[in-house]
Amino acid sequence: MKKSLGAKTLAVPTPVWVIGTYDQNGKPNVMTAAWAAICCSRPPCVSVSLRKATYSYGNIVHRRAFTVNIPDESQVRAADYFGMVSGKDTDKFADTGLTPVPSDLVDAPYVEEFPLVLECRVIHTLEIGLHTLFVGEILDVKAEVDVLGEKGLPDMEKVKPILFGPEIRTYHGVGQYLGQAFSIGRRL
Ligand SMILES: Cc1cc2nc3c(=O)[nH]c(=O)nc-3n(C[C@H](O)[C@H](O)[C@H](O)COP(=O)(O)O)c2cc1C
Repeated sequence: MKKSLGAKTLAVPTPVWVIGTYDQNGKPNVMTAAWAAICCSRPPCVSVSLRKATYSYGNIVHRRAFTVNIPDESQVRAADYFGMVSGKDTDKFADTGLTPVPSDLVDAPYVEEFPLVLECRVIHTLEIGLHTLFVGEILDVKAEVDVLGEKGLPDMEKVKPILFGPEIRTYHGVGQYLGQAFSIGRRL
C-alpha cells in the first residue's frame, strides 16, 4: 500500500556535489549542491540547480564555468560546511584548509583534496522557479589514481561518494554491490 506524501523533492538519494567557482575578484568559492545530476551523454553534461541568493549563482553567471567536486565520506564535514556558509561572508577554502586549484580548461577552481572532479563550461541556463538550472558541458574529468578500478574508471567503493536524503536531510555512504548494469537483467 502506498501513501501520498505530496508534491515534494523526495527522490532519494541525491548526490552531494561541491560546486567550485571564482567570484568577480578571482576569489575561489565552493558550495554544496544536491539538486544535481548527469544530464547528457553526448556532449557529456551535468546539470546543477542553484538559488539566485547563493554567491555561486552570480559567479557562474559571470564566469560561465564551474567545477563539480565529489567529496568522499571522510570529507562530509567540509561538504556540509560548504552548504551552510556563504562565500559572500567568508573564504571557505581558508576556513577548511582545503586547496583551490585553477582548472586548466575552464574559468573555475577545483578542490585538490577531493577524489573526483569534473570541469564544466556552461552551455545552457534554465529558469525553473526558486532554482536556476545550469547545464555544464564536461570538458575533462580528473580523478585521484587510487580511486580508479580495473578498467581505469572511478570505482564507487574507492571514491566513497556521499548520498543525501532530501527533506530528511541525512548523509549516507554507498551500499553494497548488487550486480553489473546492462547485464544482470538478461537473466530474467
Ligand atoms: C546537502 C546540501 C545540499 C544543498 N544543495 C543545494 C542545491 O542543490 N542548490 C542550492 O542552491 N543550494 C543548495 N544548498 C545550499 C547551499 O550550499 C548554501 O546556500 C551555500 O551557503 C551557498 O554558498 P555560496 O553562497 O558560497 O554560494 C545545499 C546545502 C546542503 C548542506
